[in-house]
Amino acid sequence: MRKELLILFLLLPIACQKETISVCDSEKKLRDVADFRVGTTFDQFRGSLYLYGEVVGEHFNRISSENALKMDRTVLSYSEFDFFPYASLSREGKFNKLQAIHIHPVIWHKQVPKWLPDLPADSLESFLKNYCTKFREYLGYTDLLVVDGIDVVNEALNEDGSMRQSFWYQAMGKDFLTLAYKEFSKLDPAIKLFYNDYNLESNPVKLDAALDLCDWLREQGVRVDGIGMQMHITIHEPSISDMAAAVQKIIDRGYMIHFSELDISLNPYGKYDTATPELLNKQAERYYEVFRLYQEIPKDLQYGITVWGLADPYSWIPDTYARFDAPLILGESFEPKPAYCSCLNALEK
Ligand code: G3I
Repeated sequence: MRKELLILFLLLPIACQKETISVCDSEKKLRDVADFRVGTTFDQFRGSLYLYGEVVGEHFNRISSENALKMDRTVLSYSEFDFFPYASLSREGKFNKLQAIHIHPVIWHKQVPKWLPDLPADSLESFLKNYCTKFREYLGYTDLLVVDGIDVVNEALNEDGSMRQSFWYQAMGKDFLTLAYKEFSKLDPAIKLFYNDYNLESNPVKLDAALDLCDWLREQGVRVDGIGMQMHITIHEPSISDMAAAVQKIIDRGYMIHFSELDISLNPYGKYDTATPELLNKQAERYYEVFRLYQEIPKDLQYGITVWGLADPYSWIPDTYARFDAPLILGESFEPKPAYCSCLNALEK
């Protein structure tokens, strides 16, 4: 039954939004129209939910910790950790009507203290055990926001499907994953545990490797509930049929799906210095496709969609690639863009 659902979607002509609009004047809010969680991120370095929380709570019902819970923020020394950003995000989120938080990430090879990769293997393993235990314990510290789920491990694979030669892997092999998922498996099963990575929507070899890795973890007796498809895509690629095929594969293997870091670059080649109406409408069509695709996922496997940034000025892309871009659904002044309307249209189908 499940297979037919998505293939049917592939066959259907995707009735994108035909009229071209320059602004989205709908009074409707994404969080009220979606029947799954719609989330965003907020980088506390760039501001505070105290300042912008009202906007977040107006459109979204979940927050993901973009940078606040990465080890370069939480690890003070070998055995001292500060998870307070979780509590402050939860408090500010609750104050601004959010319902849930998604924890991103526990283990990543980037944004770690400079001294961490140089630890001897046995010290690194002891550090990781202690870190995961303290992190898990801290999540019970406050019930301000529901913890929907956790990116326990982020980006452990190469594009060819082999294991990334990160300092975690070089020290412990795949045991670093087993150790982490085993610790967080102690949490309430309502808190979903994810493996999160990029290009899973466009690289079938990497997606197969991610699914095999998660199956292997389950065979080790630990809990992995879902796959985070980051969905950092552009107005040009990948095709909706490639993305639908990837989603179908995950459905067939029985994993939940989180479109975990969705943004749609409208200037991937750096050709433009402003968002023309044509670019905005092409972007709107792509957001429509992605949200329609997500709608086709069986409800029990839907975890939600997270756009990776509250509004265009807070996207990671312009700083990272030193180019103009406007990849999100809220614009410079938090105004809903055409893409916002197309997400609403997709959800109301
Ligand atoms: O906190 C420092 C601040 O003290 C300093 O003054 C400032 C200027 O140098 O930098 C601040 O740190 C920046 C940090 O974001 C917080 O804003 C780092 O330079 C910057 O590199 C970092 O970028 C983040 C990036 O991950 C790091 O790789 C982006 O905000 C964040 O959106 C991005 O998110 C990742 C996901 O975690 C995993 N998937 C890919 C995604 C995009 O790279």
